[in-house]
Amino acid sequence: MRSLFLAGFMGTGKSTIGPRAAARLGIPFVDTDEIIAHEAGVSIPELWQREGEAKFRDREAAVVRRYLDEAPHVVALGGGSLLLRNLRHAVLDRATVITLTADAPEILRRVGDVSTRPNLAGADPLERIRELLAAREGSYAECHAQLATDGFDADDVASAACAVVQRDPIVLPLGNRTYTVDVVNDAPEALTDAIARTAPSSLVIVTDTTVRRARGHVLDRALSHLAISRIDVTLPPGEDQKSITTAQTIWDAALGARVDRETLVVAFGGGVTSDLAGFAASTLLRGVRLITVPTTLLAMVDASVGGKTGFDHPAGKNLVGTIHQPRAVVIDVAHLSTLPVREMRAGLAEVVKIALVTSEALFQKLEVAGASLLDPKSPALLEVIRDAVTLKARIVRDDELEGGKRALLNLGHTVAHGLEAHTAYRKYLHGEAVALGLCAELEIMAERGFTPRELVDRTRRLLMALGLATHAPRDELRAAARFVMTDKKRRGATLAFPVVMALGSAEVRQVPLDLLDRP
Ligand code: GLY
Repeated sequence: MRSLFLAGFMGTGKSTIGPRAAARLGIPFVDTDEIIAHEAGVSIPELWQREGEAKFRDREAAVVRRYLDEAPHVVALGGGSLLLRNLRHAVLDRATVITLTADAPEILRRVGDVSTRPNLAGADPLERIRELLAAREGSYAECHAQLATDGFDADDVASAACAVVQRDPIVLPLGNRTYTVDVVNDAPEALTDAIARTAPSSLVIVTDTTVRRARGHVLDRALSHLAISRIDVTLPPGEDQKSITTAQTIWDAALGARVDRETLVVAFGGGVTSDLAGFAASTLLRGVRLITVPTTLLAMVDASVGGKTGFDHPAGKNLVGTIHQPRAVVIDVAHLSTLPVREMRAGLAEVVKIALVTSEALFQKLEVAGASLLDPKSPALLEVIRDAVTLKARIVRDDELEGGKRALLNLGHTVAHGLEAHTAYRKYLHGEAVALGLCAELEIMAERGFTPRELVDRTRRLLMALGLATHAPRDELRAAARFVMTDKKRRGATLAFPVVMALGSAEVRQVPLDLLDRP
């Protein structure tokens, strides 16, 4: 179990909820303000006066970091403890963080004597509370869940907090657009709950006929507990559906049903579905909410997380689109039970990619588990999916709009997109093209002395163990190189290209466009 850190403004109930949650979880409770006051030997107001806010924050950060290394605790934080981005993200990486909330008048009522609160000094404490809440809104939103405490019973809030700890979602912190990714096994209620949390006016369910046939009953079960009207847009399957015409089909169905801005689009399917449904959601009524429910391994570890949407164009793959983050992602590995093994292999290519650029440990896990990962019931598979999503979420957190390190996730994709476009999206599954692209791109960088030669061989061995091809036909590679001119990553005469320097460590470099034009 992870520790539970309770964040939120003063007076939101952290020290009331904390001991109750600790008792339920059977772990100790601590309050960082009490620890700081105890260690300093003076009260918090005195400490502020003596040392100032900056020194107080340093003391606070030291205590927070100490409890990240301890056995699980419930930790009640000071109201400003997680305002520093790096500290907040370190806590989000290693603990469950819940922000407790209450409105400003209720906070003032609970605080009572403001003279003991150095941060509320000034003529109008209510106005000061409002100011601070507004200034901190984006930081407080970066958490695994926000729970309102005004008007709620403390035991109920504690119980809801414990449920989040048990759920153990992965968080993608993006200020007010923060969302969580649940990775579950055969738990349709995870989707029911995720939809209920968004309280939509209606649902637009986008799926394809293959997924509808194989997994539609699970979707129906999840939705049967919700009294929300729904329209279904069930598309033909396949990459050749990824066009503006199909996006238009989704718009037409949604607008024909007179959806409003509180509607929720649910993308239930593979990468094509999440890209198209995401695009439709980002443009419908200038943007409505989206939940992605990936049913292929590839969509679980890549397409469903990070907000990329769009469709293909005759000039190349994914050339038109938007970034529109979902409100939640629900990954249920049970969906993989009906997935053809060829698609399982293709999905694993994206996991190899993320391991190459971010994590030696994940790469080693893949080597150890090998072909056992093709079994959807394998516990190692669930772990690997969680790892891949966690690593991707950290990259997107730091570079949502792909100004820098997010381009690392394109490793193998320059060649892959070229191969797919050249073969009219019919010969290769996306992940198969990525496997070929990984090998080709690593090879090119090894020839130039950047990527260690033994890593190219090791990657080929891993991909082969997973049942993936590692050498594209030379004529196809040559033809694929021509698509580089229309690649999204092109900047004039150069291309932003991920270069793996060592296993788990990569850099984005600007390389000349003719790099891929090998004899
Ligand atoms: N599929 C790569 C990314 O999301 O950035």
